[in-house]
Amino acid sequence: MRIIVTGGAGDVGGYVVRDLAHYNLPHTILDVRKPDSMPDGVDFVKCDLMDRTATAEALKGYDVVIHLAAIPNAFFDPPEHVMSVNMVTCFNVFEAARENGIRRIVYAGSESSTGFGIHNVKLKPLYLPIDEEHPLWPHESYSFTKRYGEDMVENYARAYGIEAISLRYCGVWMRNNLENLVAMLEPFRRGEKAPEPWFGCYVAGEDVAQAVRKATTYTFTGNEPIPFEAFYITAARTFYPEPTLEVMERIYGDLPEVRDPSYFQNNPTASPFDIRKAERLLGYKPTRDCREIEEWEAQPI
Ligand SMILES: NC(=O)c1ccc[n+]([C@@H]2O[C@H](COP(=O)([O-])OP(=O)(O)OC[C@H]3O[C@@H](n4cnc5c(N)ncnc54)[C@H](O)[C@@H]3O)[C@@H](O)[C@H]2O)c1
Repeated sequence: MRIIVTGGAGDVGGYVVRDLAHYNLPHTILDVRKPDSMPDGVDFVKCDLMDRTATAEALKGYDVVIHLAAIPNAFFDPPEHVMSVNMVTCFNVFEAARENGIRRIVYAGSESSTGFGIHNVKLKPLYLPIDEEHPLWPHESYSFTKRYGEDMVENYARAYGIEAISLRYCGVWMRNNLENLVAMLEPFRRGEKAPEPWFGCYVAGEDVAQAVRKATTYTFTGNEPIPFEAFYITAARTFYPEPTLEVMERIYGDLPEVRDPSYFQNNPTASPFDIRKAERLLGYKPTRDCREIEEWEAQPI
């Protein structure tokens, strides 16, 4: 299986590349910039994915494209730039996949495409926990692009039979930022309440890499209406000590419908984004919990 990782020089890319190398899945990094370091045996292709012809050329000869390249938030760039880069790079990559007969696309979706949790406009979920059937209501540039990129890749699956998996992961906690994360956790550990409307979701870089690898090697059953699946990927619990339903009640005044009370009874601080589909189909299993964040440094990536 020949794999190419767009955005492989980026933060999440570093985890994905190390993990693929660890599991002996040979791959190439595609990025506009060379990564600071690369595991032995990994190739690098420099390419600007805004250039459709160059993208089609760079993606020749691969079976799987893991598409991570994007502007990963709405904070630093003008919103129209985020829209244009994230949408055009998706189109060029998916078109190149179609042209080159690439079998599978693993797409970096985002929990932000739901429109919940980190946004200024407080939209209330229809029900809890939020699963992949819940509608997506993005309402700012970055989240729009993550949702419409997912729509685009789903339609490449529908129209052309390309297998596509969208991993909707939430804020990724990485080792290059551990000190700041520990400082951020401190008030909650002291019992301070969560600021609204944060849901307190996160996922460790290692666990995103695990999900990406499992999505890369996942076997579709063949019974799906189209070869497309979306999955929420988060840690098993939020980073608040406060039970999730209490956080939700505080944010919304009253609780959204709780469709599956046992989910929160079994794990009171469970992520409001339901990861059970990822656990069931991909075999995803979160390995990092922020309650042990001080020990993360000592653990292998
Ligand atoms: N970091 C998070 O918390 C988070 C959460 C959910 C989803 N995601 C998604 O994960 C992916 C990776 O995020 P990240 O945090 O590693 O971002 P990052 O900025 O660290 O990495 C993105 C990489 O994409 C490359 N890139 C950007 N434009 C390109 C272009 N035109 N051509 C080629 N390469 C280009 C950049 O050079 C960079 O190396 C993104 O799609 C992001 O939306 C990230």
